[in-house]
Amino acid sequence: MDEKVDSFLKVHEVFYPSAETMEKAWIRDYDKAYAESIKDIPGFWERAAHELEWFSTWSQVLKWNYPWAEWFVGATCNITHNCLDRHLKTWRKNKVALIWVGEDDSERIFSYAELYRKVCRCANALKALGIRKGDRVAIYLPKIPEQTVAMLACARIGAIHTVVYSGFSAPALASRIEDSQPRAIITADVGYDRGKVVPLKPVVDEAVAHSPCIEKVVVVRRQKPGITLSSPKEIDWDDWLKEQKALCAPEVMNAEDPLYFLYTSGTTGKPKAVQHVHGGYMVGTYLTTKLVFDLKDEDVYFCVADPGWVTGHSYIVYGPLLNGATILMVEGKPDYPTPGRWWDLIERYGVTIFYTTPTAIRLLMKYGEEWPVKYDLSSLRILGSVGEPINPEAWLWFHRATGGKLPIMDTWWQTETGAILITPLPCTKLKPGSAARPFLGIEADVVDREGKPLPPNTGGFAVIKTPWPSMMRTIYKDPDRYKVYWNTIPGCYTAGDVCRKDEDGYFFFMGRADDVIKVAGNRIGTAEVESALVSHPAVAEAAVIGKPHKTAGEAIKAFIILKQGFKETPEFIDQIKDHVKHELGKIAVPHEVEIVPSLPKTRSGKIMRRVLKAKELGQNPGDISTLED
Ligand code: WT7
Repeated sequence: MDEKVDSFLKVHEVFYPSAETMEKAWIRDYDKAYAESIKDIPGFWERAAHELEWFSTWSQVLKWNYPWAEWFVGATCNITHNCLDRHLKTWRKNKVALIWVGEDDSERIFSYAELYRKVCRCANALKALGIRKGDRVAIYLPKIPEQTVAMLACARIGAIHTVVYSGFSAPALASRIEDSQPRAIITADVGYDRGKVVPLKPVVDEAVAHSPCIEKVVVVRRQKPGITLSSPKEIDWDDWLKEQKALCAPEVMNAEDPLYFLYTSGTTGKPKAVQHVHGGYMVGTYLTTKLVFDLKDEDVYFCVADPGWVTGHSYIVYGPLLNGATILMVEGKPDYPTPGRWWDLIERYGVTIFYTTPTAIRLLMKYGEEWPVKYDLSSLRILGSVGEPINPEAWLWFHRATGGKLPIMDTWWQTETGAILITPLPCTKLKPGSAARPFLGIEADVVDREGKPLPPNTGGFAVIKTPWPSMMRTIYKDPDRYKVYWNTIPGCYTAGDVCRKDEDGYFFFMGRADDVIKVAGNRIGTAEVESALVSHPAVAEAAVIGKPHKTAGEAIKAFIILKQGFKETPEFIDQIKDHVKHELGKIAVPHEVEIVPSLPKTRSGKIMRRVLKAKELGQNPGDISTLED
């Protein structure tokens, strides 16, 4: 993308925080706190770092050797010390750390002390295999407590975990193993999906057959009777932990030592291993969890992500545990066994903070407001959204469905950024469809290709102008690919998203830069057109792509999924086009609209427009290992 992007979206309403929200909030004046934070960015993060415990302190907060950053230089720590040990010295020792609810509604509850013991046993079991600091361990587990335990156990001994989402195929798993060369893999016999048993072990068997680096396969057996483990490589999780002591001192890590690799391809290109570290990542996830969700000791925090994604790493496991929170972790889909599933759990456990995704909200919206109204949702106080731009329609529905008073934190960030970077805080006024403004200590802007700031309401590149502690340190084995993020626009971190800022400095994300469509000289972001499409009462989901066009350069093609009960009529497509014309103007009207039963999505719910486009144009879609089906 080398030019500006045009914006056609009108903003409808503004929402102000309630007196209750304001009274409770850690931060009550964003402008003041922000101005203060960027006067001295390293100083700001240093103050946050002092809220956590370190084995030894730093000589320098930030060493910035563009584009390479080191934070808390020379300090030693271990992220699990702050997730666990730090709380055991306080009343939180017996506080509930984790409530897990399985798809079949079974429940497991862990106090901080119990989680600590489990993690120590697992850490000792890893050591017994000869796994040491710097070794990699692959984790291919469904969303069960062992996934959290395994991650923390690796971190405890300084091994680098690489969690692979349990929906990935054997080749996708094998290629990630091939790249990161783990010595062991931790898996389960099965996962569950809408009541169906999903075998995982055969996937691992197939991947491991091609992976000589794997010395041990640890299997959590959920089914009774347990599946037979065959080769001497394989061991049962319970047997593995049984003999181990519930005490394991955390490995003393340098702040810059790697904590984990997580593969991401976003919606484009070949997966790459994003590398995060113990020190800066700890500070970033700690502070963002605390301030964005206004986390307090009495909260019950429910994030729907899977630890297979970065959201699960930062905002189910690390950020909440660093804050000593009570976490609700739920296996399964939002509409199984009924579309009331999540609302029911919110009522049952008295959830106060609920962090979800636009795709899930749109799915629940399809079933209508009669589901949320059946439940007592009065415990809720803060909502969150992540993963894609949340279209105003879905934002307003979510707001209404939860009682019409709660603030929604539309949090923008990436696997690469480690933590939330652009977001409201509970004290900020909200504009549906906007991720509001940069988090404290973050300098963000919207610029053109030369890095020149653009005037309000002009779409361009979203960039971060200064380093932050939770930023990825490199792409494993591919430093050149890391450098691209900081070289595309001189001096800035380029996220690859197009965005505009309004006159208030509010960021409105407009889609991925690679997906921008150029129609008769106008550059149009996918998110605005899709948002306009789904604001039509008959449309449940939409994706748009650009197709070559003789006179216009490109023409917009829209793929839409209809809501239940709506049928295609001859006038229907024209109605849809009229609706977009009314919402955005003539230029953004799709030339073609096709009704489809489903859309290609990544397993984390993002539409893969590149796959739609390749199919439409009869081209090769490239790497599709992250595709859902
Ligand atoms: C991309 C990063 C961040 C954790 C989950 C996804 C899109 C994410 C928002 C938001 C608009 C968003 C961006 C970003 N995105 N959150 N609130 N508003 N867009 O992590 O898989 O690394 O994806 O997701 O396009 O670049 P990821």
